[in-house]
Amino acid sequence: MAVFGLGGCGKEAGGVAQLSQDRGCMRCHGMVTKFVGPGFQQVADRYRGDATAAARLGTKIRQGSVGTWGNVIMPRQPQVSAAEAAALAEWVLEQPSAR
Ligand code: HEC
Repeated sequence: MAVFGLGGCGKEAGGVAQLSQDRGCMRCHGMVTKFVGPGFQQVADRYRGDATAAARLGTKIRQGSVGTWGNVIMPRQPQVSAAEAAALAEWVLEQPSAR
């Protein structure tokens, strides 16, 4: 698993999962099913095999999104650095299938 320089947060396997808690992602996302936003396993299923997904999602995590999964808005997440967003995007896409 690729973990970037996260200022010490990403050393152990649970690092990015912990980051998703610390950055508030889990207030709206579950791992498996839809809550406010899509479950991270559902996101992984949607983009499985899409080589450009990690870069796109990294940008979306910081800038927000609406209309991809429905009409609920994901607000922008300015507390997340670009490196953190990239690590979070990779971590989301690594999740096992929800099906
Ligand atoms: C206030 C609620 C909320 C928070 C906080 C939130 N999200 Fe979301 N997220 C959503 C919603 C709603 C969507 C669906 C947006 C859409 O349909 O375009 C979404 C979509 C996504 C997607 C899929 C985007 C796509 O194009 O398919 C990813 C990946 C994601 N969020 C990651 C994160 C991460 C990582 C964090 C923490 C830094 C986070 N979210 C924080 C509500 C939230």
